[in-house]
Amino acid sequence: MSKKLHVAIVGATGAVGVEMMKTLEKRNFPVGQLTLLASARSAGKTLPFRGEPITIKELRDDSFAGVDVALFSAGGDISRKYAAVAVKAGAVVVDNSSAFRMDPDVPLVVPEINGDDVKKHRGIIANPNCTTAITLMALYPLHQEFRVKRIFASSYQAVSGTGAQAIAELRDQVQAIAAGRPVEKKVYPHQIAFNVLPHVDSFLDGGYTKEEMKMQNEGRRIMHHPTFKASVTCVRVPVYRAHSVAVHAEFERPVSLTAAREALAQAPGLEVVDEPAKCEYPLPLYVAEHDNCQVGRLRLDCALENGLVFWVAGDQLLKGAALNAVQIAELI
Ligand code: A2P
Repeated sequence: MSKKLHVAIVGATGAVGVEMMKTLEKRNFPVGQLTLLASARSAGKTLPFRGEPITIKELRDDSFAGVDVALFSAGGDISRKYAAVAVKAGAVVVDNSSAFRMDPDVPLVVPEINGDDVKKHRGIIANPNCTTAITLMALYPLHQEFRVKRIFASSYQAVSGTGAQAIAELRDQVQAIAAGRPVEKKVYPHQIAFNVLPHVDSFLDGGYTKEEMKMQNEGRRIMHHPTFKASVTCVRVPVYRAHSVAVHAEFERPVSLTAAREALAQAPGLEVVDEPAKCEYPLPLYVAEHDNCQVGRLRLDCALENGLVFWVAGDQLLKGAALNAVQIAELI
């Protein structure tokens, strides 16, 4: 029988933290003890795990005694401050923030793509950006077949990627508009209900956002492909859950739709949903709460040489965050 582990979730009350708990339960992860950590605001409240209420504790320096695996999802600042504390206490950290993703000493892992990189860890393993992870689930099998040179992509990202407060903001704005009340905004700089915002994360000097550059930077590390290029526009849309990405990919080798479909059909964690004549293609509403990502709208790119276009969608709280983190924990 496998050893039961003491697991801690940092940011347990957040949009991702709650999914981490559900994923541990669903995948029957060998949890012997579960420690739920959040801010002082949540300390003393409870969350259910396997039918039992677990009391949330305030995250502190002494929170990690006896912890084997710590899943972090409370933002980069908390990870920068406490990941080393957890490692020092003997835990292996799987970090969902962007704090360590580009650190050469920290493996950045999508288990279906570069699961072996986990072996190189020195205490911390990084979970990739959600949009990057979902895109690579479909791009990597095509890369193995045809070797990708570059992609052009636009994302359609759900509000839950921003966190629990953004989910509430979309709901409140929709209700306010339906009731004829003025719209309040706190999380996003503009109204998100009935709107799309070409702005995810903060802007960099070149005009791209940080989120947009993660596709190239993290994609290179995960695919072990240092010359991979990605030009991306990330867009926030009024969808509660699941991101979608339209990808135009150019490859070194000649492409064929038959070989592409075969590669995608065999890829782990991916389903091909591609019957456009029947109006069947991946939709965020239907891929939400689904472990697998879905790909469709596959076609030859009419503007690129050796190019393919596809549309990939996935639940970013799961494959883009909690599920990927728990899969990493399973590998260690
Ligand atoms: P809390 O609910 O107590 O604020 P989300 O990304 O959905 O907004 O969630 C963020 C998570 O990070 C929440 O669980 C939140 O806990 C947690 N968090 C935020 N600030 C801190 C902090 N200073 N210490 C510990 N956890 C924090």
